[in-house]
Amino acid sequence: MPITADYESKIAGANGLFHYTVSETAVWRDLFDQQMANLRTHACAAYLDGQAALGMIGDTVPQVVDINARLNAINGSGVKAVDALIPQDEFSTLLSERRFPVATFIRRREHFDYIEEPDIFHECFGHCPMLTNEAFCQFMERFGRLALDLGNDYSERLFRLFWFTVEFGLIRENGARKAFGAGIISSPEELAYAMTYAPKVVPFNLMTVLRTPYRIDILQPVYFEIDSFEQLANSLECDMQAMLDEAARLGDLPSLFDDAA
Ligand SMILES: [Fe+2]
Repeated sequence: MPITADYESKIAGANGLFHYTVSETAVWRDLFDQQMANLRTHACAAYLDGQAALGMIGDTVPQVVDINARLNAINGSGVKAVDALIPQDEFSTLLSERRFPVATFIRRREHFDYIEEPDIFHECFGHCPMLTNEAFCQFMERFGRLALDLGNDYSERLFRLFWFTVEFGLIRENGARKAFGAGIISSPEELAYAMTYAPKVVPFNLMTVLRTPYRIDILQPVYFEIDSFEQLANSLECDMQAMLDEAARLGDLPSLFDDAA
């Protein structure tokens, strides 16, 4: 599990396309094949439907322009190629415009199972299929607007909501636990852990989420399970500033991990 993977952003050619070497494409293909075999059982229907609608295949790393065009045609959402890390305001602005920021480099094979920095497998394979779901997009759009409105003073706690849903969310579907968070979908290690080893899974509750700290460099010790994407979108129909103030007043719940990295 790398602490710093030290990757460089890719530069698009004049045609807007990114070049991937044979070995980079092989990493994509092997990740794609391994994850798809497991996701047919463990991913939610919205993810699998989205994956089919976007037409991703194992043989080729998708191009951002193609994914963007398909998303745009489906529901007006989209993606924008960015450097791996972008300023928070830019990130929130893109979300509020229904556009998801996408890093375009791909992990090296030594980081096959898990990578802290989001690469194109995490971004395109992990996140993009969910963007085809209207309620999920509504959540993303509202979240971006809220993040911009509330500003930096509230960002740390507010981002926990993004972390425990968009990145590591689970959903109960026909009585079964399914994955939709990109951090689970795109990580062989996290997928096996979250779905097979039965870690702590609790029903989604906004206040509990806002009071739950997390670390980005470990398998998650707790996951939240939503009932539907409508529930997720509707969770933002509240006085979020008051909720965040109350979460701060109540304080964080005891963390389920060691603080030391
Ligand atoms: Fe992500």
